[in-house]
Amino acid sequence: MPFAHRHLLGLEGIGREDLLSLLDTAASFKEISQRDIKKVPTLRGKTVVSLFYEPSTRTRASFEIAAKRMSADFVSLSSSTSSVTKGETLLDTARNLAAMAPDAIVLRHSAPGAPQFLAARLGCPIINAGDGAHEHPTQALLDLLTIREHKGRLHGLTVAIVGDILHSRVARSNVFALRTLGAKVRLIGPPTFLPPELRAWGETTHDLHEGVRDADVVMMLRIQLERQGKNFFPSVDEYSHYFCLTERAVGLANPDVIILHPGPMNRGVEIASDVADGPYSVIMDQVTNGIAVRMAVLYLLANRPRTKADLDVEAPTAGPLAARSLATGPLATGPASPPAPPARPARLRRRAG
Ligand code: MLT
Repeated sequence: MPFAHRHLLGLEGIGREDLLSLLDTAASFKEISQRDIKKVPTLRGKTVVSLFYEPSTRTRASFEIAAKRMSADFVSLSSSTSSVTKGETLLDTARNLAAMAPDAIVLRHSAPGAPQFLAARLGCPIINAGDGAHEHPTQALLDLLTIREHKGRLHGLTVAIVGDILHSRVARSNVFALRTLGAKVRLIGPPTFLPPELRAWGETTHDLHEGVRDADVVMMLRIQLERQGKNFFPSVDEYSHYFCLTERAVGLANPDVIILHPGPMNRGVEIASDVADGPYSVIMDQVTNGIAVRMAVLYLLANRPRTKADLDVEAPTAGPLAARSLATGPLATGPASPPAPPARPARLRRRAG
């Protein structure tokens, strides 16, 4: 079944068939990266523009390598090398780029909703490469592909996601997709990272050992200091004392558990080095799978037959989410606005046992 969407803005609301179609397409592209000559003509003559307003190592390189392996032309812009430094708004930058008829724009931005904002105004496919604390769909897809490869399925698995759930776009995208595909999600972190409204997403606990017990998959998250407006825990030492994934904690999970981390890792804070580099870690497989996932996304979106709508550029109008500042003022570069944190102080619960 063909992929039913024009953009990839997030995984919330993407149905089972579309998720499976993305994963199957990605799986079929993996073999290209194992060839001696890693290039196919699939996107020859297509142009992909990437626009990154936040730092990135993996995601940006991965999109570029994916586009080039498919023979697309790839133009990479960042806030420091574009006219943003001269005060241009995101919308003006994107409208100018869209007028050059790219076949897809890959956007990373600190404002949640920035990709939706562009998608509502530009004809060309928009791919969300991470928008504030909102979503990071290609990261979650590569996580799903990695889990499915190692476990042979997603349905029925228990996936423990540990850390800064509140500020993590990786956690959000994963929760939506894992639940759609029938996995059971457990969320683990201090109370300040797990406000009551997130309990609707899955089981929650503040105890790492309880949370990883019998889990099939453990996904560790970085503390998103750049997305926090204040201190959510007393000290990094205290955080790592309670929430760092050590070999002892891994021993409580299923014997064939796999450990994921989206990177960048803070060794010794959320994950011990011997776990990150140990036999259960599939972190490098995630990076490898990122290429296949982004090849699949580009293939499904940039390769659609072009219509007049692809060239249309709409006049700027006010819209939802981050729309106003994106349309009328310089870019919001400050921290994104996740749901309001709970009023309770950042006290970490004592670890049981
Ligand atoms: C992200 O862009 O959100 C990363 O992949 C995860 C992180 O920054 O910790």
